[in-house]
Amino acid sequence: MNIVILAAGMGKRMQSALPKVLHPLAGKPLLGHVIDTARALSPQRLCVIYGHGGDAVPSAFANAGLSFAKQEPQLGTGHAVMQALPHIEDGATTLVLYGDVPLTTAASLQRLLDAAGNDKLGVLTVTLDNPTGYGRIVREQGKIVRIVEQKDANETERAIAEVNTGIIAAPTAKLRGWLAALSNNNAQGEYYLTDIIAAAVADGVDVVSAQPDDVAETLGVNSKVQLAELERVHQRNIATRLLEQGVTLADPARLDVRGTLQCGRDVSIDVNCVFEGRVEIADGAVIGANCVIKDAVIGAGANIKPFTHIESAKVGEQAQIGPFARLRPGTELAREVHVGNFVEVKNSIVGVGSKANHLAYVGDTDIGSGVNVGAGVITCNYDGANKFRTIIEDDAFIGSDSQLVAPVRVGRGATIGAGTTLTKDAPAEQLTLSRAKQISLAGWVRPVKIKK
Ligand code: UD1
Ligand code: CA
Repeated sequence: MNIVILAAGMGKRMQSALPKVLHPLAGKPLLGHVIDTARALSPQRLCVIYGHGGDAVPSAFANAGLSFAKQEPQLGTGHAVMQALPHIEDGATTLVLYGDVPLTTAASLQRLLDAAGNDKLGVLTVTLDNPTGYGRIVREQGKIVRIVEQKDANETERAIAEVNTGIIAAPTAKLRGWLAALSNNNAQGEYYLTDIIAAAVADGVDVVSAQPDDVAETLGVNSKVQLAELERVHQRNIATRLLEQGVTLADPARLDVRGTLQCGRDVSIDVNCVFEGRVEIADGAVIGANCVIKDAVIGAGANIKPFTHIESAKVGEQAQIGPFARLRPGTELAREVHVGNFVEVKNSIVGVGSKANHLAYVGDTDIGSGVNVGAGVITCNYDGANKFRTIIEDDAFIGSDSQLVAPVRVGRGATIGAGTTLTKDAPAEQLTLSRAKQISLAGWVRPVKIKK
């Protein structure tokens, strides 16, 4: 099978410099959704017709194994498909998709392909309460005989509620002939792809139709309003799937998944959480309100408290994170680790049961198990030019407001006194501290304001 994706339209109503098909839905360009759905059907050839925005569209999908054909000027949907003809093979069906219609499912497309078989022309149609603007499906004795565009339709034709979604499947060799014979003698002066329907009928080729599971699958994006509407439809579908899998969502309308979210049993997610990239949440984990979690693995029974930000990190089983914690790339937390409020952890490995509960920066650090990192502790990992690691061995205790100037090592069971600036390794089991000696001045008098 060949798949051709039409994406040359400029999308003037988006009011944007970015080509329409590159606007993101759920964090992925509209065209990316269509390409992914197309790939699910395993086509031999996949060709994208682009036009506006210079090379922005091909550049966005370079190395994706696609072919691109430029359509310039844009003389209509039929003219757009003509540009793909050098890229597709006869002897197979050609499926035409739209780069600005992101929610079509592979299942609905497969139904259309099955209906069309090798030798029929298939049209994906829907019946709308308000068909204004769409091409209407004209049937005689139940059989599709042609499609008439809104602007070319008479009153009787405009009353038809069954419309063309634009998605068609056609035998390729025949398609070439029909496209070659198109004329632009119509209300818009364009080469209409839809005119191939009448051509097929004249050729004695059967025209069949299939319908998608949901009307939203055929909705296109022409404006930011429509983009926002489809985003909600898509997010609602994702939330419904999660609920069906047994995930507890405090409010399915207040969840955003921009990538893939995989959840175990009895996972619970509070309101306003955003998941990006690939996120896995294991059994029984709880995600508090207002968390943003990207490319992360959350262990079983972990509790991610509200307002936590996690990116490219692993959180161990039964860990307690937040509220207001930040886990940055390269962070790996073992079982039962606690990371509390206003603690930032970057590129660090933290062992079983270790805790940093308040206001700390832990960067480029290896922390063993059973370590306590006090409030306000900072690992000084950067000298302005290079980064160095800090090593804190098992059962060490780092007193509050200490700075560990890397590279530095705190031995097993060592205690660092509060307020220490550690510049040399601290031996195991000992108390190490750097602190000006505390003095008290007897008889000292507090200054008083001078009277003028
Ligand atoms: C088209 C159909 C109409 C259908 C509707 C569904 C035709 C003539 N009409 O109308 O029957 O109901 O879609 O939304 O096919 N495009 C190009 N190059 C062009 C023109 C369009 O790539 O020269 C692309 C656009 O970027 C868009 C798609 O084709 O993704 C549809 O184009 P659009 O102008 O929106 O078609 P409609 O007039 O809506
Ligand atoms: Ca359209």
